[in-house]
Amino acid sequence: MIPSNENELTHAVLDRLTGASDPRFVQVMSSLIQHLHAFVREVDLTPDEWMKSIQFLTAVGQTCDDKRQEFILLSDTLGVSMMVVMLQQARAAMGGGEQAAATESNELATQATVQGPFYWEGAPEHALGANIAEGVVGEPTYYSGRITNTAGQPLAGALLDIWSGDGDGFYDMQIAGASMAARGRIRTDHEGRYRFWSIRPTFYPVPVDGPVGRMLDGMGRHPNRPGHIHMMVSAARHVPLTTHLFVAGSPYLDSDAVFGVRPSLIVDFQPHPAGSAPDGSTVATPFWSAQYDFVLEPSAA
Ligand SMILES: [Fe+2]
Repeated sequence: MIPSNENELTHAVLDRLTGASDPRFVQVMSSLIQHLHAFVREVDLTPDEWMKSIQFLTAVGQTCDDKRQEFILLSDTLGVSMMVVMLQQARAAMGGGEQAAATESNELATQATVQGPFYWEGAPEHALGANIAEGVVGEPTYYSGRITNTAGQPLAGALLDIWSGDGDGFYDMQIAGASMAARGRIRTDHEGRYRFWSIRPTFYPVPVDGPVGRMLDGMGRHPNRPGHIHMMVSAARHVPLTTHLFVAGSPYLDSDAVFGVRPSLIVDFQPHPAGSAPDGSTVATPFWSAQYDFVLEPSAA
């Protein structure tokens, strides 16, 4: 078919999918083509605007390297990452409904949020109770809690893969040549308990020196995220969880640049004077403590 107008053009492009063999790929591409064409028609995109869009996406790709992920930042700031997280959790909750009834479970799994662009695989594994932010700028904070499943069973040997920025709001990956800092993996004890020291994270701007920063500026948006610490929580035979704990009272909780805040993940950080810490150690400076229990969904057998 040789299309003679813009509506026939959409059909012509869709018709070219007849040779594809993966039905899910066909579904995704058909929808993408239709929405993309509808978008171009709706805004009546001019050739100049089209070229600017191509240059923008090219710049997003060129800004990426092994430490900088501008495409994740684009996805995050447009709310796409959080949309995928929310859909996945809704899907898991529907699947877990039968499981919940079967185990007489009454606990909800901890809510997920975005992974963000600063995950660095292979953080060192530390002993329970260790300081994962030795030498990092920031106010010392003692984190503790339990990891259980939705049936209330403690998960021994569950893994917490933790990362955050420093007390000034910078991630190690943003500092040229820096090695891993304020990152670590901790495993729960036989009662599913975890504890570790790190710093109290502060709010920070997402990187604004690239095309996504210029996009946010054009939208009249601020680039800030409220203070948070990231974690991936995993245990055998359970659905892994990627989430954050947010610092209660932090600026930007109600206007996170990546839409990642969920009220159930906001935690009160308790201030303490210098002296005895909950783990029996002595701290020379004032410090904070934060307590949070994680709940994982059992995975399908
Ligand atoms: Fe972050």
